[in-house]
Amino acid sequence: PLVTDLDIPRITALPAVALAARTCRICPMARRATQTVFGEGRSDARMMFVGEQPGDREDIAGRPFVGPAGQLFDRALLDAGIERDDAYVTNTVKHFKFRPRGTRRIHEKAGPEEIAACAPWLAAERRIIRPHVLVMLGATAASALLGRHVTIGRERSRAITLEDGTTGVVTVHPSFLLRVPDEDARTREYARFVSDLRLAADLRT
Ligand code: URA
Repeated sequence: PLVTDLDIPRITALPAVALAARTCRICPMARRATQTVFGEGRSDARMMFVGEQPGDREDIAGRPFVGPAGQLFDRALLDAGIERDDAYVTNTVKHFKFRPRGTRRIHEKAGPEEIAACAPWLAAERRIIRPHVLVMLGATAASALLGRHVTIGRERSRAITLEDGTTGVVTVHPSFLLRVPDEDARTREYARFVSDLRLAADLRT
C-alpha cells in the first residue's frame, strides 16, 4: 500500500521512515525521479543539516549531497572540524525535480506545493533525531523550517530558536558558493560558510 501523510507521524524508527519514503507518491515529482533521496546519518546525531532538494547526481546515487555542491559541503565540514558521519544530512524535498530536454534533465526549483507535500518527512526526521542544532542551508530550508519568508543575509550566523525549542543556524546553500563568479569573493564567502558551520558545531553540546 502507498504511504499517505497520515501514516508518517506513526512511524517511530528512522530506517522504517526511510523505507516508507521510498514508495511515497504524495506529490507528482515522485513519478519522474529515479528514486527518493532520503536523509542519511545517525539517528542520535546532534547536528542535522537541511538542504533544498536532490540534484541530478543525488537522484542517481540515491544519497543527499554527493554532487558538486555536496563535495564543497564535505570540504567545508572538514574545515569546520565536523565529521559528516556524526551528523544527519537531509533535504527539504526528497525528490529531484526536473524538466527533460532531449537527453538532459534540467533542474527545476521545487515550489510551495512540493515543499508542503514533503514536510511530513522532514518533520518525522526531526521528531526522531531531535538534533541539538539544526543547520538550514539556504532560503528554501530556512523558510520551510521557520515557517516564514527568510532572507539569508539578515538571519545567518547566529543562533535562532525554532518553535519547538531546537536551536537553529541559517547559512547559505553550498551551491550558492559555486555560483559566486569572483574568486576573492568566493574565498570570502566560503570562509563565512565555514565560520557558520563552526558556530553550529559549538552550539551542538
Ligand atoms: N543540493 C541540495 O540542496 N541537496 C542535495 O542533496 C544536493 C544539492
